Amino acid sequence: MGKTTILLLLLFALLLTTSLSKDLCHKDDKNTLLKIKKAMNDPYTIISWDPKDDCCTWYSVECGNANRVTSLDLSDDDVSAQIPPEVGDLPYLQYLTFRKLPNLTGEIPPTIAKLKYLKSLWLSWNSLTGPVPEFLSQLKNLEYINLSFNKLSGSIPGSLSLLPKLDFLELSRNKLTGPIPESFGSFKRAVYGIYLSHNQLSGSIPKSLGNIDFNTIDLSRNKLEGDASMLFGVKKTTWHIDLSRNMFQFDISKVKVAKTVNFLDLNHNGLTGSIPDQWTQLDLQTFNVSYNRLCGRIPQGGDLQSFDAYAYLHNKCLCGAPLPSCNVKIQATDLYLNLPSE
Ligand SMILES: *[C@@H]1O[C@H](CO)[C@@H](O)[C@H](O)[C@H]1NC(C)=O
Ligand SMILES: *[C@@H]1O[C@H](CO)[C@@H](O)[C@H](O)[C@H]1NC(C)=O
Ligand SMILES: *[C@@H]1O[C@H](CO)[C@@H](O)[C@H](O)[C@H]1NC(C)=O
Repeated sequence: MGKTTILLLLLFALLLTTSLSKDLCHKDDKNTLLKIKKAMNDPYTIISWDPKDDCCTWYSVECGNANRVTSLDLSDDDVSAQIPPEVGDLPYLQYLTFRKLPNLTGEIPPTIAKLKYLKSLWLSWNSLTGPVPEFLSQLKNLEYINLSFNKLSGSIPGSLSLLPKLDFLELSRNKLTGPIPESFGSFKRAVYGIYLSHNQLSGSIPKSLGNIDFNTIDLSRNKLEGDASMLFGVKKTTWHIDLSRNMFQFDISKVKVAKTVNFLDLNHNGLTGSIPDQWTQLDLQTFNVSYNRLCGRIPQGGDLQSFDAYAYLHNKCLCGAPLPSCNVKIQATDLYLNLPSE
């Protein structure tokens, strides 16, 4: 055979396979997706899903090996529905996203526990109610959980610390109550980011949380109390710590902060003591200790004077730039007599 013939044969074979496998999508997945579409009352975003087409080419759908559906992402739609339990019947799903669907209501369906390959569960900015499901801890491949901006209630399941691959846990802006679970000090690995802000979490935070080297920890706007000094430490590589608007009460005088930290917001708590000299060594982008009960001279140097007085206001007796100098205060009132003189 000549070279040309071989090439033509190859080309023919290629065309044949392509046309035969026009519908690459697995038929079970296609059926499931069509059920999901129906259960959600034909959302505008996916109205274009045509049963005649290969479902791997459908908008919001992605397929992986063996043309099984690995990703479903439905966002920005005014669909009024609940999460269809049928999502649990996409056995190879790795990424499940339902985001910015303000009229997506109801609970997170237990069928999601069947998705054993799930890496990312992103269900934020909806109107979901009910608990943060305990069953999430069965999904051992989860790396990313984002359930923020919903109306989830109840307490945070301690079993989430059993997830061996978890990088991000984002539960902020819900109505969660109760304490931060004791078990969160024993995550199987260093969790990159934990976001629990804007909830109604209460109680003291577990001492063991100090064992974790979070990159970001955001506990702001809760009702947490007691000591949080274990979250700090020069050996950590944390860069974002937000404890603002809680009821934390501890003396910061001896708290050393890792040099990697560039976001440190402690405003609106009951912190006591004075700002340590060590904090002048930090490279800070955001810093706020206003509305606490701090006292003493603000150490001069580093970035501490690059923030205006609003970062320091409403404390017991802080003084020195950017606040008025300590000497003036000593003259003004003898309440400040025990301040170090300049
Ligand atoms: C959500 O539903 C309510 C009541 O059914 C409706 O008034 C509102 O327009 C809907 N919102 C969106 C964004 O679709
Ligand atoms: C979680 O989702 C919200 C809303 O989509 C987003 O703003 C936020 O950055 C996400 N959090 C993380 C840790 O990715
Ligand atoms: C610090 O926090 C207070 C209270 O929330 C706020 O008023 C102020 O603007 C903040 N200052 C800076 C510099 O971020």
